[in-house]
Amino acid sequence: MNLHYPSLHRILALPGSLRRDSCNRKLLETASRCAPPDSRIELFDGLAEVPLFNEDLESVQPLHEGVRRLRKAAAGADGLLIATPEYNQSMPGVLKNAIDWLSRPLPDELLPGKPTAIMGASTGRWGTRLAQAALRQTLAATEALVMPAPTLFVRDAAQVFDDAGELGDPATRESLHELLLAFSLWIERAGTTASPIAARGTSNSHASSSLARPASDQ
Ligand SMILES: Cc1cc2nc3c(=O)[nH]c(=O)nc-3n(C[C@H](O)[C@H](O)[C@H](O)COP(=O)(O)O)c2cc1C
Repeated sequence: MNLHYPSLHRILALPGSLRRDSCNRKLLETASRCAPPDSRIELFDGLAEVPLFNEDLESVQPLHEGVRRLRKAAAGADGLLIATPEYNQSMPGVLKNAIDWLSRPLPDELLPGKPTAIMGASTGRWGTRLAQAALRQTLAATEALVMPAPTLFVRDAAQVFDDAGELGDPATRESLHELLLAFSLWIERAGTTASPIAARGTSNSHASSSLARPASDQ
């Protein structure tokens, strides 16, 4: 008899906004509350303590505490869930900065093969489409395994959350739930695929190609 016990997926949630009343943080908090039974979503609240990326800081020992916290949390996660605002038609600098730090081999590479899902909320009418496109492009360079669909673009974000921070709009809640279910499956499938990065060691080869896709996509 082949019994399959699904394992718990530990998901690190990264909000791209430092704002106290951030809609993107609220989106992630909602995600955490309505996570599928096989997923545990934990919000990372330390992006404000991550210094601006500077290659000189990489050789300073010990590594900056804010960077160590971020990298440790990401290393221990089975997946990353990112919620980004849109700033000037792109992702906020604070998010790009975090990804730059995560992308470095200090000494281990963290992002190649890491299942990642993205979403975003903005007060504008396009709901972070351009920010998410920029985020996807950046994550492609890191060889993270970014889930292509379903997508979630939350527009008019100020109206979507109530005063208590609850996501009131049923259609958005449903879309969020669908995304989380799909991400759980994405993590599961990624776990069955050997990472080409792991196979070739930890070097950041300039000549590498990205092969890390779920088996059914190959
Ligand atoms: C500097 C700046 C630039 C912005 N540029 C855009 C933009 O290009 N497109 C858009 O839809 N919203 C834009 N916004 C609105 C933000 O997406 C909106 O304030 C969003 O709610 C911020 O996310 P948060 O609630 O998680 O902090 C901008 C806001 C700021 C502060």
